[in-house]
Amino acid sequence: MIEFWLNDQHIRTSSPAGLPLLDFIRYDQGQTGTKIGCREGDCGACLVLEGRLQHGALHYHSIVSCLTPLVNIHGRHIVTIEGLGTVAPTPVQSALVDHAAIQCGFCTPGIAMALTALCLSGETLTAERALAALDGNLCRCTGYQSLKRATGELFSKLPAAPADRPIPWLIEHGFLPAFFSKMAERLAAISPFAPEKASAPVLVAGGTDLFVQRPDALLHTVAAPFRNAPEWSGIRIDGDRCTIGAEVTATEILRHPGLRDRFPNLEAYGHLIASTPIRNMGTLGGNLANASPIADWAIFFLALDSTLVLHGPGGWRELPLSRFFLDYKKLDLRPGERIAALRVDLPDADMRFHFEKVCKRRHLDIASVNSALSLRLLNGRIAQARLSAGGVGPTPLFLEATSRFLEGKTPDAEALKQAQAIAQGEIRPISDIRGSATYKRLLLRQLMAAHFLEINL
Ligand SMILES: Cc1cc2nc3c(=O)[nH]c(=O)nc-3n(C[C@H](O)[C@H](O)[C@H](O)COP(=O)(O)OP(=O)(O)OC[C@H]3O[C@@H](n4cnc5c(N)ncnc54)[C@H](O)[C@@H]3O)c2cc1C
Ligand code: FES
Ligand code: FES
Repeated sequence: MIEFWLNDQHIRTSSPAGLPLLDFIRYDQGQTGTKIGCREGDCGACLVLEGRLQHGALHYHSIVSCLTPLVNIHGRHIVTIEGLGTVAPTPVQSALVDHAAIQCGFCTPGIAMALTALCLSGETLTAERALAALDGNLCRCTGYQSLKRATGELFSKLPAAPADRPIPWLIEHGFLPAFFSKMAERLAAISPFAPEKASAPVLVAGGTDLFVQRPDALLHTVAAPFRNAPEWSGIRIDGDRCTIGAEVTATEILRHPGLRDRFPNLEAYGHLIASTPIRNMGTLGGNLANASPIADWAIFFLALDSTLVLHGPGGWRELPLSRFFLDYKKLDLRPGERIAALRVDLPDADMRFHFEKVCKRRHLDIASVNSALSLRLLNGRIAQARLSAGGVGPTPLFLEATSRFLEGKTPDAEALKQAQAIAQGEIRPISDIRGSATYKRLLLRQLMAAHFLEINL
């Protein structure tokens, strides 16, 4: 039995664990304000809020309901457009109306939910972050200028710091209905999920890869054993060593204060990855296990000294991330084995790190080519180098020969030129929808130059 709250309504359902939340909301509950657009996480028409208790506190963020299986929302609070503005339009809804940011209205519920998630966000607000809240929403008719103006007005009305706009403040100022005040207590009363035994379960984490690839096959077979288990979740930093649980989402990585300290551009890199709701859902483990040659986190962590912690019927083992990807979609993962965590050495004062990605459009696109470089500099020379590249081979690549070549060199234009030539021998790009093989070779050359420029060599 899956149990959660939908707006102000308590739900207990025996619907299939793999049923997309979108279908449950619309067809089981008859709440049609949540729209069906792409069903692939791209358009944001199906966006809802997900609230969950973490260490006794209630946190909300946006998710796309088309890629969320019911099993993932047990114990959560789901808010749809029907759950907002129950008495009068909220300031979010009023801003959209006042700035004529609505034409056909198909995208509007998703946009209202994305902006409400911004109000509830645990981040200190800036104008840039306010605009980025809509990076997962497409509008085909109004045009984005009026949406920008509505977002700007909303931003000017909100206190910047999360501590100054807690849930009671948002209720008092009409952003949320009163029932939000009861939610922490209501969610705390829900017992942990007791999964039914499926014979050959398909394991789901965030669902953002699986539910794009084969949603129909998942209806009765999906299981979420990773969900909420302490050994698969959380980020722990001990000196220069960091352990990131497989269940940790992209948003959790990007917002982690300890990681932001070590990667000063982390927030900017985050804007290159998917969109706000997809980052709220997609996990590190899913990104690595999906084995896409352009997986952003695979490329990011291959350029650092990273080791996977794997757990399966044979017990625990550790494996360097660079040895995990065997061939196209083939992993060194034994039957029944799962990724529990990733251990990584964080950059220290002598290290420089940079991540780059080129895709066909700025937001919400996967890479044509992506790459990361880390360098340890000692006395003006490169003491240690790790270069990774995606989209230029059947797996995410650690470019070992190029990395070894750079070690001991002075980081200058000549070293870069020779490294670029060596890298060309290590890659095997193919022509596809993301670009010709020749173009991808050119991109990697340019991204390597960008690494050298950005880390001020
Ligand atoms: C609109 C959209 C945009 C996207 N943009 C990007 C992007 O810019 N960059 C990018 O890299 N990706 C992108 N993705 C892909 C996806 O969001 C990420 O790869 C995400 O990290 C996948 O994680 P998940 O938890 O959703 O995986 P799921 O879909 O739940 O799982 C993926 C696979 O991994 C397996 N798995 C999950 N966890 C584990 C584990 N711990 N151990 C073993 N196997 C496991 C599952 O069984 C499944 O086979 C995008 C996806 C969408 C829908
Ligand atoms: S329907 Fe387009 S993101 Fe869900
Ligand atoms: S108002 Fe028509 S899609 Fe946005």
